[in-house]
Amino acid sequence: MVRQLYLLLLFPLLLGAEEIFSLNITCKECHPKIYQEYMESMHARATIFKDPIHKKVWETLPFSQRGEYSCAYCHTPAANNLQELIQPNGIGPDPYNPTQNDAIACAFCHRIEKIQSGQIHNFNVVSKEQRRYFARKAPLAASPFHKIDTSNPLYQQGNNCVGCHGHYSNKHGLQIYTSTPNLPQVNCVQCHMPQVQGSSNTLVDTKTHAYHGGFGKILKERIQEYLSLEITPSSNTFHVDVISKVPHIVLTTPLKSLYLSVDVIRNGKIVFHKPEFFIRALSDDQGEIAIPWFATRVLLDTMLAPNERRRFSYDFPLQKGDRVTAILAKVLLDFEVEKGQDGKLAIRKIKIVGEPEPLVSKVLTIQ
Ligand code: HEC
Ligand code: HEC
Ligand code: HEC
Ligand code: HEC
Ligand code: HEC
Repeated sequence: MVRQLYLLLLFPLLLGAEEIFSLNITCKECHPKIYQEYMESMHARATIFKDPIHKKVWETLPFSQRGEYSCAYCHTPAANNLQELIQPNGIGPDPYNPTQNDAIACAFCHRIEKIQSGQIHNFNVVSKEQRRYFARKAPLAASPFHKIDTSNPLYQQGNNCVGCHGHYSNKHGLQIYTSTPNLPQVNCVQCHMPQVQGSSNTLVDTKTHAYHGGFGKILKERIQEYLSLEITPSSNTFHVDVISKVPHIVLTTPLKSLYLSVDVIRNGKIVFHKPEFFIRALSDDQGEIAIPWFATRVLLDTMLAPNERRRFSYDFPLQKGDRVTAILAKVLLDFEVEKGQDGKLAIRKIKIVGEPEPLVSKVLTIQ
């Protein structure tokens, strides 16, 4: 009996299915700046323990009733019991497991060797060699802790992201995240991880390092290079153009939307106000707004397409001294849907939830 128990305990080890990744905290000593930036990003908070929205959605899905935490594949990929977690066997997330708390772990991301495309979502193929990390730049000094491999094309092309970010569809074939087809060709790093001041490590001075906080936001001072606004007055109208140089749809998930506020200020008063929304609203068969995991139909899709220039025209005669403002912000929205007289479903009411997060703005004073 004792012997059998012993064998049982040994079994997972013999299978060798699980990869072991060094914990994030081991990187802190030599890479303190990168560690700090990373800790403030969404990648450090992708777990069910730290992201309340993720937890809430998980609890409403049939996966959770089956005790199948398949989300771990992307949200907790460094878990030392990943295979068990994603099976329908009731082994749920464990807040006391440090490898699960490591979220999109440093060592995990730096060991993505290849990406395989898949129907529902893509897959990360992780290298078997522990403590050998892929990177783009040739290092100045050797690291006493790990090897560095700069020969992997994914890192040279700045695209080790699309194993998780490529696309993700629900069981009805509807996209939950981006559906931009050219993502594997895109260099994500040039915009999301630019070089910023400060050494990458404490052993040699590299002067700059790849910004690791960009997993939540693009650096404020860089956004207008990728998203911009133009205001053009003409005789009795004026136009506002929203210009994207981003190779993916903005935004990448229907959970968030862009909001454009166009205002004209005359003698200190707002005399014109027009809100515009860039949304991807999904519904169930009955036409009720549904979260992406349950949705069967696209009700409305006005998201900004890759590299799109979208013009809004307003029949409003401007006067000398008028100040025209345009602000583009990121928002969370709440919708109400209703059948119109033509029998078609339409969004009747849109409500902004919480604080809008401004991205870019433009002001023009009429001379
Ligand atoms: C004992 C110190 C030490 C520890 C601990 C350490 N590193 Fe490093 N790391 C270095 C040094 C030194 C370099 C080389 C820096 C250079 O010359 O650019 C480096 C370089 C790197 C590079 C490549 C940088 C480049 O130049 O392209 C990556 C990626 C990296 N480390 C990841 C990690 C991760 C992930 C961890 C934690 C699991 C970690 N390191 C822990 C010292 C360390
Ligand atoms: C192992 C899977 C994985 C990899 C690899 C990965 N990400 Fe993520 N990323 C996620 C998950 C999961 C989230 C969502 C976290 C959350 O909100 O709970 C996320 C969040 C983000 C966000 C913030 C989105 C938001 O809604 O705030 C950005 C931006 C981002 N990732 C960019 C990147 C870039 C750039 C790369 C490549 C350098 C990358 N990611 C690689 C899984 C991954
Ligand atoms: C194929 C990888 C993948 C899988 C599997 C996955 N996610 Fe995600 N998840 C992501 C990525 C990537 C993001 C960030 C998307 C973006 O912002 O474009 C994300 C973001 C989210 C968000 C938005 C978080 C926020 O705070 O805004 C929620 C909620 C979420 N996921 C829930 C889940 C749930 C629940 C599961 C399991 C049923 C799951 N995800 C499985 C990759 C994945
Ligand atoms: C989502 C994937 C991802 C995660 C998570 C991640 N990195 Fe990186 N890291 C990258 C990529 C991609 C590069 C290469 C950037 C480039 O091409 O300039 C990089 C570059 C680096 C470099 C070299 C910096 C430079 O430009 O000199 C170091 C060191 C490093 N990472 C350490 C870490 C550490 C430590 C953590 C955790 C605290 C971490 N990384 C988390 C993707 C990631
Ligand atoms: C030309 C620059 C550019 C490139 C290249 C780029 N992005 Fe983006 N990305 C942006 C901008 C600008 C935004 C919107 C502003 C923001 O969210 O901070 C954005 C938003 C995102 C978001 C949503 C963040 C949120 O808060 O909802 C994710 C996730 C993301 N990008 C991932 C990627 C991935 C993965 C790649 C590579 C396949 C990539 N991006 C390539 C500029 C770029």
